Amino acid sequence: MHTRRLIIAAMLGAVAAAPAMAQDTMKVGLILPMTGQQQSTGKQIEAAVRLYMAQNGDTPTGKRIEILLRDDAGVADTTKRLAQELIVKDKVIALAGFGLTPLAMATAPLATQAKVPLIVMAAATSTITAASPYVVRTSQVLPQPAAAMAKWAVDNGIKSAVTLVADYGPGIDAETWFTKGMKDGGGEVTAQLRTPLMAPDFAPVLQRAADAKPQALFAFVPSGQGAALAKQFAERGLDKSGIRFIATGDVTDDDQLNGMGNAMLDVVTAGFYSASHQSELNRKFVAAFKVANPSMRPNFMAVAGYDGMALLYSALRKTKGNTDGTALVEAMKGMSWESPRGPMMIDPETRDVVHNIYIRKVERVNGELFNTEFATIPMVKDPAKAAAKP
Ligand code: PHB
Repeated sequence: MHTRRLIIAAMLGAVAAAPAMAQDTMKVGLILPMTGQQQSTGKQIEAAVRLYMAQNGDTPTGKRIEILLRDDAGVADTTKRLAQELIVKDKVIALAGFGLTPLAMATAPLATQAKVPLIVMAAATSTITAASPYVVRTSQVLPQPAAAMAKWAVDNGIKSAVTLVADYGPGIDAETWFTKGMKDGGGEVTAQLRTPLMAPDFAPVLQRAADAKPQALFAFVPSGQGAALAKQFAERGLDKSGIRFIATGDVTDDDQLNGMGNAMLDVVTAGFYSASHQSELNRKFVAAFKVANPSMRPNFMAVAGYDGMALLYSALRKTKGNTDGTALVEAMKGMSWESPRGPMMIDPETRDVVHNIYIRKVERVNGELFNTEFATIPMVKDPAKAAAKP
């Protein structure tokens, strides 16, 4: 009898406590491609978000943060539907993730309507931040590495190049800013080749690049496609053709680089993060990431996810726990901190990421392939936004 009364009391207590607990959590909608072609991005970002919370606790301002992870499989209509549900039903205080540009673009109008911050942790077309005043980005914009790569190329005697990019937002940005940089430096781009975003076949474009015989081939494909490109590159013997292969860091992504083999050795890329970045913070980040995820090595997507959480935690502390979306975005503007990538800042005017771009070379270190950084261009703003200013 006594025990029974206790059980009933405990049950009633649980019921009574439930609404109070719900009120005490702040829900964050994390929409990622966990399946499909872009799943490596989803897995990397989810792992980094969970790591950040394991290291920093889940109560930055007293209330518990609860991550609601949703898989959009990289399909924009799904991203939008999931975002709608998260806003209306779950009353999330922020949306985060966004593995591809079209997924962020489809959701931006909802963020504006609902006044909910949309933290872009992957997508990298310059114009995304202009799609809503609630977009804040911790990943990158392609004009940053593309312009840096062109500058390095012309400074190192490369006068002619062919570009090969995925045919959508970030690819067009990369093509535009690499071509402009080559021209500005007195070089030229003799052919601009593009491959479809979905299920690309790199063989025909690589053949065309080989036939054009430029000094260099510059490539951008989204994270996750680098291995397929590298395989075709080696199979067609381009590594022995005398054409230099240069790229954005998306191609020699730390998630896949190890499996790409010797054909990628000495490939020079421009990017914002390398797992071998030399800093105490990064060494700790990589080590902790590997303990939590033994079969993985963090790539730039992971760092962008980790920093997205750092940004949200700092903004919540700055607003003293006020979850109003407009207040949170205001708090994020101009914020700066040390990331595993190096120093970074959110541009207060554009809400876009400002960070170092590193020039790196693929090397084998202790049996693993890494992008070894050898030059730094400090605190690069989005060159496309600077150019668009009146
Ligand atoms: C994008 O879709 O904007 C995107 C995705 C993956 C990348 C870069 C850009 O590595």
